[in-house]
Amino acid sequence: MPAHTRRRPPSMPLPRRPALAARSASLIALLSACGEHTGDDPHAHGPDAARADAASAGPETPRPAHIEPGPGPELPQPPLLVDRDPAPDVLDVELTAREATAEYLPGRPTAVWGYDGQVPGPLLRARRGDRVIVRFRNDLPTATTIHWHGLRVPLEMDGVPVAGGIAPGGAFVYDFVVPDAGTFWFHPHVRSDEQVERGLYAPIIVDDPDEPAALTGLAERVLVLDDVLLEADGTLADFDYADDDAPLGAHAAHMGTVMLGRQGNLLLVNGAAHPTLTLDRGRPERWRLINAANARYLRLVAPGWRLTRIAGDAGLLPAPEPVDDGGLLLVPGARAELLVEATDATPATSTLTALPHDRGHGTGDAPAVVLATLNATGRAPEAPLALPQGLRSIDPLGPPATRATLVLSEKVASPGGHAGHGDSGAATGDETAAPEPVFLINDEVFPDVTPLTAAVGDVVEWAVVNDSEMSHPFHLHGFSFQVVPGDDGAGALAGWYDTVDVPGKGTLHLRFQPDDRPGLWMYHCHILEHAERGMIGLVDVTAR
Ligand code: C2O
Ligand code: CU
Repeated sequence: MPAHTRRRPPSMPLPRRPALAARSASLIALLSACGEHTGDDPHAHGPDAARADAASAGPETPRPAHIEPGPGPELPQPPLLVDRDPAPDVLDVELTAREATAEYLPGRPTAVWGYDGQVPGPLLRARRGDRVIVRFRNDLPTATTIHWHGLRVPLEMDGVPVAGGIAPGGAFVYDFVVPDAGTFWFHPHVRSDEQVERGLYAPIIVDDPDEPAALTGLAERVLVLDDVLLEADGTLADFDYADDDAPLGAHAAHMGTVMLGRQGNLLLVNGAAHPTLTLDRGRPERWRLINAANARYLRLVAPGWRLTRIAGDAGLLPAPEPVDDGGLLLVPGARAELLVEATDATPATSTLTALPHDRGHGTGDAPAVVLATLNATGRAPEAPLALPQGLRSIDPLGPPATRATLVLSEKVASPGGHAGHGDSGAATGDETAAPEPVFLINDEVFPDVTPLTAAVGDVVEWAVVNDSEMSHPFHLHGFSFQVVPGDDGAGALAGWYDTVDVPGKGTLHLRFQPDDRPGLWMYHCHILEHAERGMIGLVDVTAR
């Protein structure tokens, strides 16, 4: 084990994260712009070297294509939001969104926006059935909201911007009951492409007091995964893609960033670049994974470890599913829970790595990237953990009363056309402005959309048809859905979901049954650049 990693029992429940500066002090320096690794010895490029680089990283230094620091300290866990209500079934917390400084890279501070000034924000942890009250204050220089991604909350609490959202200096009390157990997250729904990238995202865990006993004693970690696009001096790349100085020319870079979504050049786990996770081979762990990246698909592998997926977006799967060598695909917005176990073959040091995933436009050619170093101590148990074959029973939704087809597409619009609901500047009418990609559902660009309809209590089936060459992660607000087989009998997923990949030229078949929360609910692509440029639709859920 590298000398600079601190050991800590992996079972320690969600401790506070160390100060950002302390964590990053042992990260090695930024790699060269071509992404070449400068060596495995972390001491060859200590904090001093990083600081020297930072001093020389002037505004003209090109943005690095990829930043891959060496292994840093143990993975921090987000702090827990403090409950101010003594009642056992009420969680009453305070939360502020504000400007802050992170140090993703040593000596290169990054101005961020964070919940309670942290990236990720603090963990909201409740029990199924609890009432949750979040006294939220917006200390950002701009309007915001909070969307409780995956939680079945009342529409007024869903964080969809009403009248522009919560103004700077404003406050709002979110108040809802959490009906489902699982791993969820929260983030803004105003200019989400910019606000989430700046650091506004945080995990939610809703515990189930009745879950299988085999799971209750496990050591647990939350892994909130993200990527950020940093300049050489550590500042966040701006959000005006038209002035990108890329080898292909400004328009090409602009189109690429918007078309593919903003992919970062530095990967983060709980806000830390390349943390270390030390696991005891004798103690299986339960990991709760959240993909909070704007656009990056993560195909996760941990060579030498046995990974078993036990939960999807909204709680446990009916049965455990082994993860094969192809890895676990986690699309933006989605969650998964894994049982992580050592075997006799588990090496003392390995990595959690994201393999390339082809989601169109050449993304399959990208290199694999390391998210974390995994250290193993102790001895593997004789036998794997005995998980029950039935984790949870889920009744399949019956035949649909209502069907609809949603077609996802993209096109390049000339200036003066649609701009989506983001203020991307496309609708300026300026003849010299670059063409802008827009993203559509059923040929419409949000907010100029025709709502679909669904009745409370009726089973609805949607065929989400991806007419583009590029994958889109489809997210439905307010209701979890089941993924059912297509006409060819393939494509079903076990469990409950709210965010699922629709591959280029592919179709997703989903069913949901609205409970009694009528109103206009959103669905959209969770590549945030796409959502903010039109790829959002509405379903009008009507009372019986
Ligand atoms: Cu996580 Cu409407 O999104
Ligand atoms: Cu998309």
